[in-house]
Amino acid sequence: MGYFQVVFLLLALIPGSTGLDNGLLRTPPMGWMAWERFRCDIDCRKDPTNCISEKLFRDMADRLSEDGWRELGYEYVMIDDCWMSMQRGSDGRLQPDSDRFPGGIANLARYIHDRGLKLGIYADMGSATCMGFPGTTLDKVELDAQTFASWGVDYLKFDGCHSNAIEQLIGYPLMSKALNWTGRPIAYSCSLPAYLGGLPPNVNYSYLGNICNLWRNYDDIEDSWASVQSILDWFSTNQDDLQPAAGPGHWNDPDMLIIGNFGLSLDQAQAQMALWAIMAAPLVMSNDLRTLSADARAILQNRVAIGINQDPRGIQGRRLLQELGHIEVYWRPLSHSANALVFLSLRQDMPYLYQNSLANLNFPAGSFEAYDVFSGKTLSGLTDHTIFTVSINPSGVVMWYVYPVKQSPRPPKDTGRYPYLLKKYRMS
Ligand code: GLA
Repeated sequence: MGYFQVVFLLLALIPGSTGLDNGLLRTPPMGWMAWERFRCDIDCRKDPTNCISEKLFRDMADRLSEDGWRELGYEYVMIDDCWMSMQRGSDGRLQPDSDRFPGGIANLARYIHDRGLKLGIYADMGSATCMGFPGTTLDKVELDAQTFASWGVDYLKFDGCHSNAIEQLIGYPLMSKALNWTGRPIAYSCSLPAYLGGLPPNVNYSYLGNICNLWRNYDDIEDSWASVQSILDWFSTNQDDLQPAAGPGHWNDPDMLIIGNFGLSLDQAQAQMALWAIMAAPLVMSNDLRTLSADARAILQNRVAIGINQDPRGIQGRRLLQELGHIEVYWRPLSHSANALVFLSLRQDMPYLYQNSLANLNFPAGSFEAYDVFSGKTLSGLTDHTIFTVSINPSGVVMWYVYPVKQSPRPPKDTGRYPYLLKKYRMS
């Protein structure tokens, strides 16, 4: 290790000198990421359409910019593992696999920026990435940050395979500083908590909020309802530790949206969208935007669900109730005295008629309307004491956007970028 690297490492250890001051991700990130759907498919001869290559990311950038995603906020195109050459260059820098990324990453970044989008990339704090490509050891942190900045990267997912806890506890804040020092605003996603068990006392979330824009807390998502359910359950069971950690600029990350793949029914897909909105989770899809069904698109492009996820207060929601009948109720407070409610059925029989009142869900006294996010219907004339009934499909949700009627008149018609919330609440 050279003199500068030692100095750099020591600086990173001085308390108070940490601090990711990039002003980014005031609302959770939105975009697309390769991993869950495309994994480490590097055989471009056998599978040219789906292998991890510059073509895949250009294709997704085209879709995001041409199919209405970008206007809704889906702006990051994110490379995950398996983009690298097996060797660093003679200058010590990371380099992409030259067969699969012949134009280089800077070129790809330009392509993505030209379409009004942003580029995310992946690296790993350790001796190798999870799939065995070159890792970022402590002595390489600064160089790699500089390399990413020089390419025009806008977001870094920093994984933690093949390192020990001590290296991680040094390496993650070091990268935070190194990104800051590049002068380029680069959003910083830390996988650190997932490698430390995800909970206090091993994980100090208020500290993490100072050095990372978001962090993976738990296991990788897989293409199944069982996986969505286990992630949701872990986040809800531990919400007292996790929920206060989230806020503008610093978010929990329960992992990618798998809507549009093979593992979820439409009801389950609505459930993932609704619950990720409640959790103020990143809306990062990992699917094939080239072949997405109209149904999946409608769920992912639901303006009110997106508006709830992107609410400027940035308060993560909570599970309020677990009923004996396998119905759960989730709640998130929103700007302008509005609230989101999600009624989730974990039943396996038939649509369940669930009854409750807003008073029983801790709402204040008053009159309300509820907009049903997926059916588009409005339920008027609710008071806090009205006993309402919702019909919830098995492994499905009913999602409500609830607002007090005295303070806010009926919402105008849907006509633009999250128009419903935009006009009513002047979101930008
Ligand atoms: C880890 C991460 C995943 C993905 C893979 C890539 O498992 O948690 O999200 O990045 O590594 O190898």
